[in-house]
Amino acid sequence: MKHLFYFALAALVLIACGPRERVSKSVFDEVNKAMEAKKLSDAQITQEAMSWGDSISLEAQQLLMENLHKAVGEGGFTGALEFCNVNALSITEELSKKHGVSIRRTSFRARNQENLPTPEELPILEAYEYNSENGIKNESNIQTLPGGDVLLYTKAIVISSELCLSCHGDPTNDIEAAVLGRIDSLYSEDLARNFKAGDLRGIWSVKIPKKAVVNRL
Ligand code: HEC
Repeated sequence: MKHLFYFALAALVLIACGPRERVSKSVFDEVNKAMEAKKLSDAQITQEAMSWGDSISLEAQQLLMENLHKAVGEGGFTGALEFCNVNALSITEELSKKHGVSIRRTSFRARNQENLPTPEELPILEAYEYNSENGIKNESNIQTLPGGDVLLYTKAIVISSELCLSCHGDPTNDIEAAVLGRIDSLYSEDLARNFKAGDLRGIWSVKIPKKAVVNRL
């Protein structure tokens, strides 16, 4: 019985650590080889990923804004709310596929609970919040995730206009009653209200595999 227990434990450890480490190592070797072949340094890759992250997040933001404006024009704020509810996540997913990266928005005060920060994003988001509370300008940021194969690019999302307040502002003064009713029924755990113009709303978070960066260079 005891043996069986140890065996099960060993199998668990193997399942938990083995394959992942092996995959990670082979990706690592592959990236290293490609880097050598193209004579790239880690610093060059990080720099390239930074400007790629800037352009991807800008593209994502513009795409969401275009769709938001169109939806407000067609169905007012209630219509646009339904639109965001159904499409916001799939728009960023489509773009992720197009670029071979993983794009999302995250916030401590999320409307959709799927957008709450992951353990990787949490300390970075905290730093953005700290800066914002202390009047320090938030610059976009890039860091290597544990394992070394993937870079995490982040950029602040700020409440930039009155438009945002119509769905994320003060429930009594900024959000129409019908819109508020719809928010309450679609998102029972909504935290994304009571924002003011200029507030940090959250961050763009883009996971960029080093391999994808090397292939671009
Ligand atoms: C028509 C209503 C509406 C407007 C206007 C609007 N949002 Fe949102 N926003 C939503 C909804 C609904 C969600 C949740 C989408 C989902 O379910 O994926 C959301 C989600 C977000 C998120 C993702 C984090 C979260 O809370 O889930 C961010 C960041 C965000 N909005 C920022 C903004 C900014 C910045 C503006 C102004 C440029 C804006 N929004 C304007 C309705 C709106």
